Amino acid sequence: MQKNIKANKIAVIGAGNVGATTVYALMAQGIGSEIVLIDINQEKAEGEAMDLMHGSSFVKPVNIYAGGYEDLSDAHLIIITAGAAQKAGETRLDLIKKNTAIFKKIISSITKYNQDAILLVVTNPVDILTYLTWKLSEYPANRVIGSGTVLDTSRFKSLLSKHCGVAANNVHGYIIGEHGDSEVAAWSLTNIAGTNLKNYCPICDAECHNNELENIAENVKNSAYEIIEKKGSTFYAVALAVARISRAILRDENAVLTVSSLIKGFYGIDDISLSLPTIVNSKGIDKVLKLPLNTSEKKDLKKSADQLKSYLAELDI
Ligand code: LAC
Repeated sequence: MQKNIKANKIAVIGAGNVGATTVYALMAQGIGSEIVLIDINQEKAEGEAMDLMHGSSFVKPVNIYAGGYEDLSDAHLIIITAGAAQKAGETRLDLIKKNTAIFKKIISSITKYNQDAILLVVTNPVDILTYLTWKLSEYPANRVIGSGTVLDTSRFKSLLSKHCGVAANNVHGYIIGEHGDSEVAAWSLTNIAGTNLKNYCPICDAECHNNELENIAENVKNSAYEIIEKKGSTFYAVALAVARISRAILRDENAVLTVSSLIKGFYGIDDISLSLPTIVNSKGIDKVLKLPLNTSEKKDLKKSADQLKSYLAELDI
């Protein structure tokens, strides 16, 4: 780590619902000892920082404050949540033009002050913006991460947990590919109690007659649309997902998470960012795992990559 970088300093760009809730999740879990919140609306950032800091006596010591880009010069981790959020009836990819323009300004502001941080992109379309951030920042690919399908994987595990009557942290499964409509449930990798799901089903008490498992994957894919219809936006679970990734980085955990990163030659996919099970630690991306997917999963993953590339082609980067 470069000498002027503070190991436990985090910068969060964007003080909207996702950004503010992310800081709340970080402070509640004692992740980071200094957090600077940056937003184009300085008043908003100051208000959120004040409100959060007033809770500091209830959690591990942490200094949270509103600041400018100059304040992220010594941050180990820079989390980018700024940008337009998905509205009812919109897909994440519909945000591509608006948020690409915003990111071009944000990335140049970041690189002006910090060349050594790990960048964690959350704004949607997260895979496209993770790739764009890597290109524009000229940071090494291992230090440009997207929250990707970490949230989708959690949704997948929580729905399987409820269906099978097993605690979510005892369900191992992954959603891979785009954080969006072309995402893929890697059923062949899904296991409970150390055995593949197809061996677990016969001993499970849940009734599975009418494609319940396929419905779970469909529900995961459509969760955000449903939540946005009901409450206008999503922010709690994605904030917890971002806090989980941040913890793996700041505590150097070597955690396996389906973060989005630049894929180089896996499963016939190259030069695009998407999610695969990845070892994450203080260096950022330590290793993208080429796990044994089955034929249909590889085909669907390639389709997901091609879908993302088709949108990327529309951007002049
Ligand atoms: C969701 C947003 C974070 O899936 O894309 O809730």
